[in-house]
Amino acid sequence: MSSRGAITVVGSINVDLLAQVRRHPRPGETLHGTGGTMLPGGKGANQAVAAARLGGDVRMVGAVGTDAQALVGLEGLRAAGVDLAGVREVDGPTGLAIVTVAEDGENSIVVIAGANDAVDAAQVASARDVLAASAIVVCQGEIPREGIEALPDLVTGRFLHNPAPVMELDPEVLRASDPLVVNEHEAALVLAQLAPAAAIPEAPEQIADALRAAGVASVVLTLGAQGSLVADADGLHRIPAAPVQAVDTTGAGDAFIGALAVGLARGEPLPAAARLASQVGAFAATGHGAQPSYPSAEDDLPPLAEVSA
Ligand code: RIB
Repeated sequence: MSSRGAITVVGSINVDLLAQVRRHPRPGETLHGTGGTMLPGGKGANQAVAAARLGGDVRMVGAVGTDAQALVGLEGLRAAGVDLAGVREVDGPTGLAIVTVAEDGENSIVVIAGANDAVDAAQVASARDVLAASAIVVCQGEIPREGIEALPDLVTGRFLHNPAPVMELDPEVLRASDPLVVNEHEAALVLAQLAPAAAIPEAPEQIADALRAAGVASVVLTLGAQGSLVADADGLHRIPAAPVQAVDTTGAGDAFIGALAVGLARGEPLPAAARLASQVGAFAATGHGAQPSYPSAEDDLPPLAEVSA
């Protein structure tokens, strides 16, 4: 796969501490698990690695701590060839995520921000030249609000915004997202910020339409096993899932976003980029961990399901 425009990811770099369990513990319950492995993670780093492994020309803007975990956090980015000139070292610990994966492949994650809390407006502003030279700037919700809100004024290409976890943001930043990539739960939280008085619709098509009506430039609404829904100036486009036997969904959504960025950087229309993203996200769910499960440009991707008429 060839890359055209540059991709810059502004976001989190974590170390993921993995625990495999038969099922997730209930509140107050202690369970035996296996694992204990430390792997590179963080939504930002995952998305950057996914894009670079697919052939994207990728830069990372973020922060790691002064602890030994920083090396683990950067390992996947280095191996994938991501440019790390925009990553700084700050006093204190690297971001940490405690990831529990159950037998059905579903995960639950607790994130401790650590150094990611230092990715503020000043650091984002210091990357202004890199941001201005990027076709796609990708961002998530694991850095401070001020860092995210500094972005739209500095982005000259497309602002691919994945507000996960969702936080309170300036509505103009949400509207600048092109695309905004959200699941149904996140979409409801974003809509509540953009149109506080309006009822949240139930049908995915209505949710996507409501986000566009609230001023968001374009939307990719992810629907799990149902694929995704793209809403842009040309209307609504159903994107099928690629059915696979999932073993671990950790970071599969980040692989989806990294691939979406690669497709857009190559100049593909949003629905075509979302089709590639669907295949890459599914591939990632078939392997353990986040970054180690991501495909390279040479890997065969699972086919998309047929869309029923
Ligand atoms: O999306 C998965 C990621 O979320 C994990 O790698 C973890 O670090 C958390 O940020």
